Amino acid sequence: MHTKVRPNIVAPSILSADFTRLAEQLQQIEQAGADWVHCDVMDGRYVPNITFGPFIVEAVRRCTSLPIDTHLMIVEPEKYIKAFIDAGSNHITVHQETCTHLHRTVELIHSLGAKAGVSLNPATPVSTLEEILPFLDLVLIMSVNPGFGGQKFISTSIEKVRKLHLLRESLNPELIIAIDGGITSENAPRIRSAGADALIAGSAVFNAPNISKAILQLRQTD
Ligand code: DX5
Ligand code: ZN
Repeated sequence: MHTKVRPNIVAPSILSADFTRLAEQLQQIEQAGADWVHCDVMDGRYVPNITFGPFIVEAVRRCTSLPIDTHLMIVEPEKYIKAFIDAGSNHITVHQETCTHLHRTVELIHSLGAKAGVSLNPATPVSTLEEILPFLDLVLIMSVNPGFGGQKFISTSIEKVRKLHLLRESLNPELIIAIDGGITSENAPRIRSAGADALIAGSAVFNAPNISKAILQLRQTD
């Protein structure tokens, strides 16, 4: 079987960054070779936590040239997609569970010039994405329940990555598989070999004594 060389993407989540030194921390991850900056947007309704809106994404945009990967954990995401793209987001990921008309929302993201991602909570099966998969640039598998950084990796998520990896072969070989929550340098190699292309990590990067080293370690494949 022909095996495609898959990307090896590391995307630090600023949820665990020190917001009093955000510009400096963004420079550090960029210098350390991070591929994207992951911005976690929470509304206190879809998830039990509140973070930030387009205003902070716009500030992040002015501090880094890395692609901004915005993860919307909010109800009615379609109302705010334009604001987050205008603020400088390159990718917009919405939760499948929050979208009544998912195809329409994906089209909206594309029409505004961003890449479109869909995220699945731990309890949502990969099979629910079958029809939308050909239209997506990215799928984000949640390996914790969304809402907080620093939670424990739910190990059954590896099987979901594997299922999605099989599904994309026939439906969308260019699809990026990303995974988010509880990623560490210990579990990273197993997750990558299951088929994940992008690892999102908050605490493993920003709580590490050495940010550059932490990013290098997350990229190691064995
Ligand atoms: C959780 C967020 C994650 C979070 C990951 O709801 O979507 O992006 O920041 O944090 P860690 O890597 O600490 O689990
Ligand atoms: Zn996230």
